[in-house]
Amino acid sequence: MSADALVIFGITGDLARKMTFQALYRLEAAGLLRCPIIGVALDDWSQEHLVAAMGAALEGGGTAVEAAAFERLARRVSYLRGDFTDPATYRSLAARLKGAERPLFYLEIPPSLFAPVVEALAAANLTAGATVMLEKPFGHDLASARALNARLHRVLGEEQILRIDHFLGKQPVLDIQFLRFANAVLEPLWNRDHVAAVQITMAEDFGVEDRGAFYDPVGALRDVVQNHLLQVLALIAMEAPVGPGSDALWDRRVDVFRAMADVDPARCLRGQYEGYLDVPGVKAGSTTETYVELTLEVDNWRWAGVPFFIRAGKALAARATEVRVVFKRPPRLAFLDEPEHPAPNELVLRIDPDPGLRIGLLSKQASGQSADSVHLGLSFAAELGKPPEPYERLLNDALTGDRSLFTRQDVVEETWRVIQPLVDHPPAPVPYRQGSWGPASGPGRTTWQLPWLSSAHDASHDPSHDPSHDRSAEHGDR
Ligand code: BG6
Repeated sequence: MSADALVIFGITGDLARKMTFQALYRLEAAGLLRCPIIGVALDDWSQEHLVAAMGAALEGGGTAVEAAAFERLARRVSYLRGDFTDPATYRSLAARLKGAERPLFYLEIPPSLFAPVVEALAAANLTAGATVMLEKPFGHDLASARALNARLHRVLGEEQILRIDHFLGKQPVLDIQFLRFANAVLEPLWNRDHVAAVQITMAEDFGVEDRGAFYDPVGALRDVVQNHLLQVLALIAMEAPVGPGSDALWDRRVDVFRAMADVDPARCLRGQYEGYLDVPGVKAGSTTETYVELTLEVDNWRWAGVPFFIRAGKALAARATEVRVVFKRPPRLAFLDEPEHPAPNELVLRIDPDPGLRIGLLSKQASGQSADSVHLGLSFAAELGKPPEPYERLLNDALTGDRSLFTRQDVVEETWRVIQPLVDHPPAPVPYRQGSWGPASGPGRTTWQLPWLSSAHDASHDPSHDPSHDRSAEHGDR
C-alpha cells in the first residue's frame, strides 16, 4: 500500500540538495507523487526558502525543469522547523500529518540520530502504520549495526524498516540477475570451473572535497565496500532466487555472505592520497584510508578457490565502477607455427559511467598469424533507453511499499562480520599520488586489469596511455 505522507528529516542537508530534490522532481514530473511532503530540519527555513532551495538544486544539477511540474511539487512540500531531540517537534509533526495512516519517514540525518528519532516518533504515536527509510551507514561495525537494529526493532517491525543503498537502484546492478539467469550462454560458465577471478572496482577521480568531516571517521572500506561493493558481489555470486518477492532474493544474497570467511587483513591494502590530510574536517595525522583493496572468497560449490578482488579509491586516475569476470586461460594454440598461450577472456559489466557490457575475445589478426583481442560491446542506454536515477527508483519503491531493493538486517550484519577483522586491525595506509591508480606497492596488493574506461573519458587521463603504469598485468589462472 502506498504511503499517504512523506516526511524527510534533514531536508536542508547535502543529500537532499544533491539527490533528493532531483528524485522528487522526476517523480512529480512522471505523475508518481500523490502525497504531501513535509521537510523537517533545525535550520531557520520557510516554505519559500525550501522551494527556492529545490529550484536552485535542480538548476545546479542540470535538470530541465518543466514549470507546471515544479509548481505541483512546490505546492506539495512544506517545511517544519524543529530540533530532532525535542518532543515538541514530534507534536508539531503529528499535527501537520493530520492523521496520515501510512507515513514514510525518510531519515537523511547523521546515523547517531537514527535510533533517537525513531524512538521519538514512536513516543509520539507516529509509528503504528509507518515505514522508516534510513540512509547508510547502518552502524560503523558489527556490534554497532547489531545495537542499532536491536534499538529499531524495539519500536518497529523489520517490515517497517527500509535501509537504502543507492547502488541497488542502479540499472546495471539490477541487470546482473537478468544477465546471469536469463541468458543460457552465461550461466553455465559462471562458476569455479571456468572463472579464474572476479575483480570489482570502484575508482573515483575526485577526492573527499568538502566531505572531510563525514569521511574521516568512515574511510573507503565503510563508505563504499561494506555496502555498495559487497552488494554487487552478492549479485554476481548468488544462486538464482527460487520465487518472486523480496525475501527470495535476499535469502540468496545472504547465502553468499554466509559462505564467506572473515577477511584476512594480511590480504588487504589500505592507501591514502597525498594531500588528504589538508582536507578541511580531516583530523591531523589521520590514518583513514581513501583507497582499499581486499581479497575475499566464497567457499561454496560454485566459487571455492576463485578470488573476489575488491578495490575502491578516491582521487584515482579515472572514474570507473565495474565488475570484471576473468575466465580461465585456454590451453596454448598448438596449431600456430609459434604456439602461444592466449590471454583469458573477460566479461566486464560497467556500472558507471555509461553503463555497458563488454566481452573480450581473441580473434585472428587481419595479417599475420597470432591472435588479437577484440571486444563485443553494448551500451545499455543506447539499446534500452535511459533508466530512472537510483534515488528516483528507490524513493518510488519506498512510497509504494516495494521492499525488494532495501537491505535486510541479516545481510547488513553479515557484511560487517566479513570485514570486521580489517576494521579491527587495519594495516597502515600507504600514500599514493592523486591521479594515480593507488599505492604502487604494499602488502596485500593484487594485480588488476585497468578498468574499461568510458569513451567519454579524456584520453589524456587514460592510464593505459601511461607507459610507466605497471598494473595492467594479465590475470593468469589461479
Ligand atoms: C556514496 C559515498 O555512498 O557513494 C560517496 O558516500 C561516493 O563517497 C558515492 O562518492 C558514489 O556514488 P555514485 O553513485 O556517484 O557512484
